[in-house]
Amino acid sequence: MMPSAQLRAADAQAPVAVPQPGSSEAPCELRVEGLRKSFGKDREVLRGVSFSVRRREAVALIGSNGAGKSTALRCALRLVEPEAGSLALFDEDISSAHSRQLRKVRADVGFVFQKHNLVPRVSALTNVLHGNLGRSGGLRGWSQVFARSELRERAMACLERVGLADHAAKRADQLSGGQSQRVAIARALMQQPRMIVADEPVASLDPVAGREVMDLFHQLTGEEGIALLFTSHNVQQALDYCDRVLVIRQGVIVLDKPSGQVSAADLGKHYG
Ligand SMILES: Nc1ncnc2c1ncn2[C@@H]1O[C@H](COP(=O)(O)OP(=O)(O)OP(=O)(O)O)[C@@H](O)[C@H]1O
Ligand SMILES: [Mg+2]
Repeated sequence: MMPSAQLRAADAQAPVAVPQPGSSEAPCELRVEGLRKSFGKDREVLRGVSFSVRRREAVALIGSNGAGKSTALRCALRLVEPEAGSLALFDEDISSAHSRQLRKVRADVGFVFQKHNLVPRVSALTNVLHGNLGRSGGLRGWSQVFARSELRERAMACLERVGLADHAAKRADQLSGGQSQRVAIARALMQQPRMIVADEPVASLDPVAGREVMDLFHQLTGEEGIALLFTSHNVQQALDYCDRVLVIRQGVIVLDKPSGQVSAADLGKHYG
């Protein structure tokens, strides 16, 4: 066995390379290929959408109203069933996974939506505890584990992580929009997710609250290595906060580039 001093010296000479966010060396958390979805006969909303989200990477999906952003997010996770396409989540093929396997793999994904969907009449803390439902086997399991103090402690730590420990006992319907969205993020964190998928997470917030929420996402990808896939209408904000930008138009990804390489001409051409 190598003596520890020698081992440390060897370590110092050969530092472990951590792939940069978005680098093609980082493993994919989500890989989507050839996704198709129609609503009704002549309404093809996704027409062969392909993209990936790598570990620690923040990816923004932008596009005009009706371009297919929300449908793409939902179909990528099979919250809505696509008609075609192959999907790999955390290296597992979920294209035709049965609901049980799908739920198990999806338990590592935290969802945050424009409307935070908190339960209004219960406390912020209880809402965060709901984030554990997927792992504890639904409501029955949840009521059994409700009293477990380590879960409450974890929920409190999640609230602290989003800067709302002081609001734990406050009813959800007494929180501001920005606070509610941060509780929704804490609820997602309760799942200890590997990836967060957020559909228009700041669209209903004022600019200051919106920046706070995006800063929080930025910290989560940077410090905790959680991958992020989010949609936005705010092109500048998306560019500021993501490693890679996808532009979708009429159900097709027309641009897929590292955010630092996106030019005004790119945006003019693809986004208008
Ligand atoms: N459940 C549904 N039934 C029928 N049509 C739908 C359904 N969901 C979405 N669509 C249609 O699919 C198209 C894409 O909708 P989607 O919500 O994905 O767009 P979006 O890019 O998220 O738009 P927005 O910026 O307004 O959120 C729209 O024309 C919409 O009307
Ligand atoms: Mg949408």
